[in-house]
Amino acid sequence: MAALVVLCLAASLLGASAQPYANPTSQMLPTGKLSKAVQVNLAYEIDGKMITAAQVKSAPCANGTFGAPCLEQYRMQADRDKVMITYQLNTTSGFTPPTGAKVKLSGCYSKYSGAGRPWRTAKTLVAKDKQCPWPIAKKLPAPTTSPSSTITWELPEDLPASSMFVRAYVMLANANGTNNPVAYGNATTYFRVDMINSRPQSLISATIGLCFVGPFLLTVLLLGEKLWLAKKRH
Ligand SMILES: *[C@@H]1O[C@H](CO)[C@@H](O)[C@H](O)[C@H]1NC(C)=O
Ligand SMILES: *[C@@H]1O[C@H](CO)[C@@H](O)[C@H](O)[C@H]1NC(C)=O
Ligand SMILES: *[C@@H]1O[C@H](CO)[C@@H](O)[C@H](O)[C@H]1NC(C)=O
Ligand SMILES: *[C@@H]1O[C@H](CO)[C@@H](O)[C@H](O)[C@H]1NC(C)=O
Repeated sequence: MAALVVLCLAASLLGASAQPYANPTSQMLPTGKLSKAVQVNLAYEIDGKMITAAQVKSAPCANGTFGAPCLEQYRMQADRDKVMITYQLNTTSGFTPPTGAKVKLSGCYSKYSGAGRPWRTAKTLVAKDKQCPWPIAKKLPAPTTSPSSTITWELPEDLPASSMFVRAYVMLANANGTNNPVAYGNATTYFRVDMINSRPQSLISATIGLCFVGPFLLTVLLLGEKLWLAKKRH
């Protein structure tokens, strides 16, 4: 009985600390070397308060390490906060988007948040890119020399605690209708995501409570059966 209680307690506490991870999706193979042709800028809405792109840029946000000043200053909550994204053509890249090109935006884990987690780490930039498994938007207009209209990403509730950035791919459909990236760009600033605690304390307490009730009932049942069998034998 005591062993059962201990096992059950361990299981419920383990369950409470388990973090949900993204199911990585693979991406299409690049047709060639990708040009860094897109500039991506981020602004945030944190607990209803706007942080402009200029504020984000002026803070030391180009460091994806937890503990870096910018990440501590701008901590975002999954399922509450928003990232506002604009993109435009990097004119020094010499790239001109081909006719029919569309933009796809993805949420990516920083190198820091990918370290030691192969399921979050990029093998090559695009092929099986587990670094950018979070879809934000696709089929957006090709980048031009002026900033795009703003795309708002409401952080999904299943984002794990991590530091992230946003990547834009310029996608082009080939003769077979398959989309391939022809250019890309990363946001040069990172943001930190704090996971929402999806297991309320009351649920954990209830589970712990059940840990005692379950084995107790089982003991009563077993004892009852034993008594009943003993009676039957006499
Ligand atoms: C990033 O921030 C961390 C924590 O503050 C610091 O230890 C590290 O040196 C920084 N890295 C760079 C490249 O600035
Ligand atoms: C713009 O393109 C140039 C030339 O390819 C590259 O060196 C630079 O890093 C790019 N800038 C951004 C913000 O991607
Ligand atoms: C289209 O598909 C065929 C058959 O799968 C393949 O041989 C060909 O290379 C593809 N063409 C392009 C442009 O991807
Ligand atoms: C974008 O991120 C990839 C992977 O982290 C990196 O290899 C590449 O240099 C970055 N490009 C830019 C333009 O920042």
